[in-house]
Amino acid sequence: MLHTTVTQLIGQTPVMSIEVPNRDSCLVLKFEKNNPGGSMKDRMARSMVVAALRDERLAPGGTIVESSSGNTGIGLALAALEFGLRFIAVVDHHAAPDKIRMMRALGAEIRYVEGDFGEDEVAVVERQRLAAQLGAQLPGALFMNQSDNPANPEGYAGLVEELMAQLSAGIDAFVGCVGTGGSMTAIAQGLKWHNPAVRTVAVEPAGSIVFGKPGHPYYQSGTGTPAGDEVGKVLDYGCIDEGVQVTDIQAFETARYVARRKGLLVGGSTGGAIYKALEFIVTGKLTGTVVTMIIDGGEKYLSTIFDDEWMAQRRLFDPRIATRLDDWLIGTTHSI
Ligand SMILES: Cc1ncc(COP(=O)(O)O)c(C=O)c1O
Repeated sequence: MLHTTVTQLIGQTPVMSIEVPNRDSCLVLKFEKNNPGGSMKDRMARSMVVAALRDERLAPGGTIVESSSGNTGIGLALAALEFGLRFIAVVDHHAAPDKIRMMRALGAEIRYVEGDFGEDEVAVVERQRLAAQLGAQLPGALFMNQSDNPANPEGYAGLVEELMAQLSAGIDAFVGCVGTGGSMTAIAQGLKWHNPAVRTVAVEPAGSIVFGKPGHPYYQSGTGTPAGDEVGKVLDYGCIDEGVQVTDIQAFETARYVARRKGLLVGGSTGGAIYKALEFIVTGKLTGTVVTMIIDGGEKYLSTIFDDEWMAQRRLFDPRIATRLDDWLIGTTHSI
C-alpha cells in the first residue's frame, strides 16, 4: 500500500521471538519503535488529536499543548503537522535530550518548566500545571492531558488487533510498562477480552508510586509516576494481575545487553520490561508466549544509557545483570 501521510505509517509493526532455553516459553517483542516517531506513543498521540478535532474541542489551525517526557510529544508533533496545528511541548530536564531535539526538528515549540529540580527528579507536577495554564490562556489551545484522556488508551485498539493476527497460535501473557497507564490498560483489557486467561504484569521503575511503594527519584524516562504526581485516570488496575518494580540498573543494563548480544537498540523502559519478563519466565511465573513492546529505540538514549561516562557517573553499572541475562538466555545455571 502506498501511504500519503506520515500518520498512515503508524502501526503494522513487526514482531520477533526470543527463545528462552529449557523453558516452554518464548518472549515476543513487538517493534513499536518502528512507528514514524520512533515509539508506541505515536498511536495514542494521533488518537488524542483525532478525537479532539472530531469533538470540536480543537479547531483546524488551533494549538495543542502537552506535558511530555518526549515520546508523546514526538507523536503529537507528527499529528500536528498532518492536521495543520501548532504544538507546544512542556518539558523538564529529565527528558532524554535527543527526544527534545527530535520534537524541535519536527517543528514543536519547546517550553522548559522553571525551578530547581534534580536531574533524576521529574518535574511532572510543574509540567502539568504549566501545560494546563497555557491550554486555558492561549486562544484556540487545548491541553491534551494524556493521563486522563480516554483517547490515550483508545489509540491502542489497533495494536491489540495486530497482535491477535500476528500471534494467532495464542498469547499467554503480556508484560508492559506503566507511565500514564494508557497502553497497559488498553493492551491488557484487549487481550483479556479475547482470552480471559492471559496473564498481565505491569512494570514501573523502583521509585515510582503506581503500586503503592514509597517514591524516590529514578532515571528511567517516560515511565512510572513520580512521588507528588497523581496516577493517571486512564489506568485500570483491574486488568493488571501483578504490578512489579524494576531498578534503573536492571533496566539500563538490560537495554545495553540486548544491544550487544541481540543487535536490538531499545530504550530504558523497554530494557526494564524485558528484564522482568525474562525473570518471570525463568522462575516459572509466566509460561508460553509472553509479549512485550519495544516501546522506543535506544537511538533516543545514545547520550545517556548508551554513554559509558553518563552511566558511570551515576553508578548505574552492575556487571552481574549481564551474567544473569546470559544464564537466562544461554541457559547455563538459571540463577536469579
Ligand atoms: C519510553 C516510555 N516508556 C513507557 C511509557 C509508558 O507508557 P504509558 O504512558 O502508556 O503508560 C512511555 C510513555 O510516554 C514512554 O515514553
